[in-house]
Amino acid sequence: MKDSDFEFIRTLVYERSRISLDDRKRELVTARLGKRMRAQGMDSVADYCRLLRAPEQEDERARLIDAISTNHTFFFRERAHFDLVRDHIIPEMTARAPAEGWLRFDAWSAACSSGEEAYSLAMTLASRLDGGRWPWQVEATDISHRVLETATRAIYRESAVASHTPDWAMPLTGLTFSSHPEC
Ligand SMILES: C[S@@+](CC[C@H](N)C(=O)[O-])C[C@H]1O[C@@H](n2cnc3c(N)ncnc32)[C@H](O)[C@@H]1O
Repeated sequence: MKDSDFEFIRTLVYERSRISLDDRKRELVTARLGKRMRAQGMDSVADYCRLLRAPEQEDERARLIDAISTNHTFFFRERAHFDLVRDHIIPEMTARAPAEGWLRFDAWSAACSSGEEAYSLAMTLASRLDGGRWPWQVEATDISHRVLETATRAIYRESAVASHTPDWAMPLTGLTFSSHPEC
């Protein structure tokens, strides 16, 4: 790929997603661009960059961000964060709430990928708050429409749910997901 094409892609991706692609990501970018070029029936990066510059190609620019972003995730990834919410944040907040007061837990899974993080958060809140006096909700967003479709469908392999989910968590359904770049 020519330097000027890489620079164009790097700037476009950064402006839209705040994903920084340095020179070490060149191979990855080339591979992921290859998928989009095949889908467009193109074999020249320069032609593909020209296509991306066209004002009416908004969908293709979104697909490029989808292709570049890495969506690695699994249930209760970074388990310590969920333990912190369950064992410290929720008990401390409910203990501080005034007896007559009102408290609602609003959690946000920013960059939620295919939903595993959002459902893990929901299971964590439910484990402490369901049946109690405090309502809760989880909002989940991602820049990629493709992963949000999976998140909204919410169909996961039983083994994927079971493998990292702690005993105290109950699988749930019923969350909503939206596309929302966090930058
Ligand atoms: C590695 S996954 C992490 C998923 C999940 N948070 C976890 O820790 O398991 C990173 C996600 O960030 C999303 N992403 C990247 N840049 C974003 C942005 N500017 N706004 C929203 N989501 C973004 C990608 O689409 C991808 O799904």
